[in-house]
Amino acid sequence: MPVIVMASPKGGVGKSTCAVLLATEFARMNAEVTVLDCDPNHSLTRWASRSIPSGIRLVSDVGRSEIVQTIKRADGDGKIVIVDLEGVASQLVSRAISQADLVIVPMQATALDAEIGSEALALVREEEDALGRTIRHAVVLTKTSAAIKSRVQKDLERQLKSEGIDLIQPSLVSRAAFSELFAYGGDLTSMLENKEMTTGGKVDKALENARGFAEAVYDRLK
Ligand SMILES: Nc1ncnc2c1ncn2[C@@H]1O[C@H](COP(=O)(O)OP(=O)(O)OP(=O)(O)O)[C@@H](O)[C@H]1O
Ligand SMILES: [Mg+2]
Repeated sequence: MPVIVMASPKGGVGKSTCAVLLATEFARMNAEVTVLDCDPNHSLTRWASRSIPSGIRLVSDVGRSEIVQTIKRADGDGKIVIVDLEGVASQLVSRAISQADLVIVPMQATALDAEIGSEALALVREEEDALGRTIRHAVVLTKTSAAIKSRVQKDLERQLKSEGIDLIQPSLVSRAAFSELFAYGGDLTSMLENKEMTTGGKVDKALENARGFAEAVYDRLK
């Protein structure tokens, strides 16, 4: 089964958010998902400790020495494996990338983010060279505006296209519901159904966006 790795040496670009959205959407489609939290800051472990949807298993504290074994074991169990990494470039990150069927590089549409994000793409290329095979990878733009496409975003999209880099559409719009997921745990569907939960955002729009994103990722796994 596929191994999907979230990678970017830039902190705070949305790796853990992408990991949660993919895990919860795949679980909603009745897939069995194993999430590996390889970040010492434990974002995913904290999310799961509040509430974890059925169909998702979380493995915490996966370090450099266990990563390859842990991915192989989870992959062998026939599950979709989603790996969340710390926002650094490290041997752990390289090892995870070497095991990936798809590397997702979240990038914010700012000039600085694009620069550091392209270091993530360079890491993928290094692993491809070391392994002598291609590793499928794609960029997703995160925290984009729901209202307008900024000039920086348009320029970045053009640049990625000219470099032949796969860009996942739709981008992940900046939505309060995405960050609230970490406060409540669980998934957007339960957030939408729980009327007592006060949220500062349009959960239905967030859910629609997350579905589109998960479907676009799923298409790349076929
Ligand atoms: N599309 C979005 N809309 C609103 N908030 C978002 C979105 N994506 C991420 N965030 C918020 O931005 C912050 C950073 O996101 P996240 O933790 O997913 O990034 P990260 O790349 O995993 O960071 P780190 O490198 O520290 O692990 C979080 O507070 C998260 O809730
Ligand atoms: Mg994170």
